[in-house]
This record gives sequence, C-alpha cells and structure tokens, in this order.
Amino acid sequence: MLLAQPEANYDETKIPKFSVPDPLTSFSGLTITDSLQWEEKRKLEIFQFFEKQIYGKVPALLDEYSFKVIEQDNNALGGKAQRKQIAVGLKKNGRTLNFNILLYLPNGHENAPVFLGYNFHGNHTVTNDPNVIITEAWNANSTDLKISNNKATEASRGVRANRWPIDKMLDKGYGLATVYYGEIDPDKNDFSDGLHSLFYDEEQTKPKTNEWGSIAAWAFGLSRAMDYLDNDTNISNVIVFGHSRLGKAALWAGATDPRFTGVISNNSGCGGAALSKRKFGETIGRINNSFPHWFSESFKKYSNREETLPVDQHQLLTLIAPRPLYVASAIEDEWADPKGEFLSAQHASKVYELYGKKGISLTDVHEVDRPIQQTLAYHMRSGKHDVTDYDWDQYITWAETFSR
Ligand code: GCU
Repeated sequence: MLLAQPEANYDETKIPKFSVPDPLTSFSGLTITDSLQWEEKRKLEIFQFFEKQIYGKVPALLDEYSFKVIEQDNNALGGKAQRKQIAVGLKKNGRTLNFNILLYLPNGHENAPVFLGYNFHGNHTVTNDPNVIITEAWNANSTDLKISNNKATEASRGVRANRWPIDKMLDKGYGLATVYYGEIDPDKNDFSDGLHSLFYDEEQTKPKTNEWGSIAAWAFGLSRAMDYLDNDTNISNVIVFGHSRLGKAALWAGATDPRFTGVISNNSGCGGAALSKRKFGETIGRINNSFPHWFSESFKKYSNREETLPVDQHQLLTLIAPRPLYVASAIEDEWADPKGEFLSAQHASKVYELYGKKGISLTDVHEVDRPIQQTLAYHMRSGKHDVTDYDWDQYITWAETFSR
C-alpha cells in the first residue's frame, strides 16, 4: 500500500537534529579501543542488526550449485580479452534458478584483478560484442534503452556500454565480470519469482519478517558469482562494484562476504552509503513505499522514524573495514544525498583507523572533482546520478594502489 509521504527535503537548514551513532561504542555502552575488541565485541552486533532489521537474513543454505562455461573465446574484443560466459545453477527444495556471468579477462596479464558488478538490463547491454548472450529474464521496459514487452532483444545490445569502459579496464590489466541482476530476482514487488521462491516451505509466498528482501538476494547472487571467480586461476582478486540500487547490493555483499577484496559504491544513496537520519532527499519511508520488496519487512518499522534507529548507514561501511572501500557521489544527485554519503564515509573511517588504515578525516571537505583516495576513498563528481568515465578513472587509479 502506498502511504502519503512527507515532501522530500533538500534544504540543509531543515535537517533534523540528530547524532551519528558511534561505531566504537557498543549497544551496551562499551568503548572499543582496538581492532581485536572491534571484531570480538562490536562488529557482530552491528552486522546482526543490519542483517535482521534492514536487509534481512538469508533463510538457509542452498542444496546445490553448479557452474558451466557455456561459451568461450580467447581472442575476444579484437584479441584484447578472453571472454567466458558461465551458467550458474542454484538449487533448493528441488527448484532451480540459473544466471549467466559474462567475464572478460585481459590477454597478456596473468592473474588479473576483476571488477564484478551487476548491470541493470542484461549482459548484452554493457558492450557491443555480438557474442554476448541476450538475457531471457524479465526486464524493466525502457524506451531509451529499447526494451519493451519486458524482454531484452538485439535492439538493446550495447545501450549501456557508456557505463562500462571495458577497453580501459583491460588496458590497465583489469577484468570485468557482470551479471544481469534481474536473473537473480526480478526487480518488482512480487516475491513469487526469483531467488526467494526457491527457499519457500509449502504454501509460503513471501519471506518471513526478518528474512531477505531483494537487495540481500542480489548480494547473495554476487557471492555465488564470486564462488566461480574465486576458483578461476586467472583471477587474482575481485572488487565488487555497484551503482545506485546495485550499489546498495554491492555494499551489503561486501559486508557479508569477506572474499571481496574491495568494494565500490557509486551513488548508492538511501539504504546504501547515505546517512538515513539526515532525511535528505530519499528517506526510509519513501524507499519502503516505492520499493516494498528491497529490504526486509522488519525495516518498515523505521519508515518516517529514522530517529529510532540505533545505527546508521556509516556502520554498514564499517563492516567492510579494513578492506578497501570507495564511496562516490555526484553533486547533482540530491535524491541520493551526496553530502550524507560523504559524512557516512567520514564517520566510518575511525574503524579503518583502528587497523592503521586511512579513510576520510573529519576535517576533510568534499570538493567537487577532487577525490580523496585512501583505503576508504571518496569522490564527489560534478554532474548527475550516473556512472561515468570519470568515476571509472578514479576507481582504477585507486584500485592500483589499494586493491591489487
Ligand atoms: C530510485 C530509488 C533509489 C535508487 C535508484 C536507482 O531513484 O529511489 O533508491 O538508488 O532508483 O537504482 O537508480
């Protein structure tokens, strides 16, 4: 049901008074002073809060999973890359879900680092490569992207190539792995299909109150892609990347799966990197209203009641420490609260410091197009909600230093 929501606020002077929960003070008031204490006394309680109250728990283990390389070309993209398309099969309760990974590895670079990121409309949309398999899964219609009848066709090949500078990645010695997120869970308020449905008991039609919404299902899918990538001997390490709703999923994947050696959140906004308690742009009430399937049912009790949350999103970032993490905003992307993303990176940094790593200090400022690259990095790009070459240039430069 759509509830009337207060007007979105874009005025800094109208932000409610709030304090940012201290990552280094436990729920019972204990002060954390070193990384060991952090891991033993604090990290788990924060993790469990996010797991039960925000994204929702994965209900059980899979019964089986399988990988099959269904297509391979060692001379793809004019000889620059090896291309593989891998079919992954997930089984539970006699039901199966299949998804495809598209993987490019740079020729001439053994043991390459790989960026893994979901795409919004199908693997064939990230490149003009004619050999990329077109997804059969449900797809959101888009006139701009030439998708109609909820089905991708040849017409949408390469329509999102602008967001994926694959040549640049390959030239720098990086690979790319991508998956269409709709193959894991179609992005609609309907729990009858996708990954969730594999796990239901008889007669169950949706996840239980503290169980996973779509973001947690997408994060789980990233980990299943990682199961394959982790065993590919031509890959050294995997940095998980995501834009917007898929940035939220990338952050949760980074928090739940320590095999990701780095995490990139591009304009992830509300329920991603941005502090919720500022109630700037999109709020918990609005996101739960527009996308009731993204979070666990239990998160709905915080709709328009952000002040009652004992955590905020900077604590999601702390769950990734001390691994490299890049939070990126765009100055015109006010809906995602760019300043709230910056503050979140600042407030997460004290956990990185416990490990002797640098983040964004409380005296740093977010100048437009002046990245701050530390283990926890941040940039505020000029322009709108998008993924641009500028963003990727920064990610690659940062990965060279911090995540190789
Ligand atoms: C909507 C939504 C955001 C989300 C974005 C996207 O704007 O409100 O939370 O990040 O879609 O995924 O592009």
